[in-house]
Amino acid sequence: MSKAITLQEFIMDTQAQFPFVSGQLTRLLTDIGVAAKIVNHQVNRAGLAGILGASGSQNTHDEDQQKLDVFADRTFMRILTAGKSVAGIGSEEQENYILCGDEGRQGKYVVMIDPLDGSSNIDVNVSIGTIFSIYRRITPLGEPLKDKDFLQPGSDQVVAGYIHYGSSTMLVYTTGSGVNGFTLDPAVGEFFLSHPQMAFPDSGTIYSINDALIDSSPEAVKRFIVGCREATGAGLKARYIGSLVTDFHRNLIKGGIYLYPSTTSNGQGKLRLTYECNPLAFIAQQAGGTAEDNAGDILTKQPKHLHERSPFYVGSVNMVHGLRSCWLDTEKTG
Ligand code: AHG
Ligand code: MN
Ligand code: MN
Repeated sequence: MSKAITLQEFIMDTQAQFPFVSGQLTRLLTDIGVAAKIVNHQVNRAGLAGILGASGSQNTHDEDQQKLDVFADRTFMRILTAGKSVAGIGSEEQENYILCGDEGRQGKYVVMIDPLDGSSNIDVNVSIGTIFSIYRRITPLGEPLKDKDFLQPGSDQVVAGYIHYGSSTMLVYTTGSGVNGFTLDPAVGEFFLSHPQMAFPDSGTIYSINDALIDSSPEAVKRFIVGCREATGAGLKARYIGSLVTDFHRNLIKGGIYLYPSTTSNGQGKLRLTYECNPLAFIAQQAGGTAEDNAGDILTKQPKHLHERSPFYVGSVNMVHGLRSCWLDTEKTG
């Protein structure tokens, strides 16, 4: 019987892929694995530990913070700032980015994170997640970090990943050489490689959108959804959980498209470009899928601010291209 590969072994074995490895990225990925286990523990016992419900505070988007939002944010902040690899962190739960150590002079990497995704599902025991993204710093080592270090296009990501706290807990990540998924064995307390080289099916039968948004979304999105509904015989199914990580994870395995459109009241949609859309777009691309905003490839988009929102369409390549055809049609016919 072959031996199961732990996350730690996998990280060590693949670090040689990186030119000029210093071990900092290896340590950083290891730290994320540790933080994931701590947050997972708290997620699993949330109903018992008195940490369900609102924290009484609001985040930078005026959204009510849940106690687990705050716990997850603090856990990742504490662990990532204590390591020597991270110079700065941009988090959904913090208005401004956090500089580690001496004003971010040390550490080669910048982390963007949505510590707890799908917060509205916490209290009803529905799957939630964490999304993270890692960039190399632009500002030279020894100088304080600047805005530009946090506002890099998604195409410059070095690592992107998510943790899915589902019926089992998984950590899925890419370093730009495919996507690998690890499942936590709670008895042993280790993530084991369970989904090597994950691949988006080229097409799928699932479309995921908040139905209440369709009427106020762009004409192209409406046409695409009408097309899905009318494709009788194609076996299409609408599936929407309301936790981005969970919807994405299901579509990655089964094949499908996730849409969070711009609407008449929210011209840039709801999802945040730097720590929700871009990491999942990079994972999708590495798994043979693709991701767009209203204009095209989202990974080339230049972020203008930390909490910028963006329309987001991600999934199986044929389905996202089907949506693109609807954009082209509406441009022609109005
Ligand atoms: P978060 O909990 O990090 O604020 O993210 C919530 C996001 C995302 O997870 C989900 O897909 C989306 O909000 C759901 O929004 P709607 O309730 O508008 O459908
Ligand atoms: Mn989120
Ligand atoms: Mn969140």
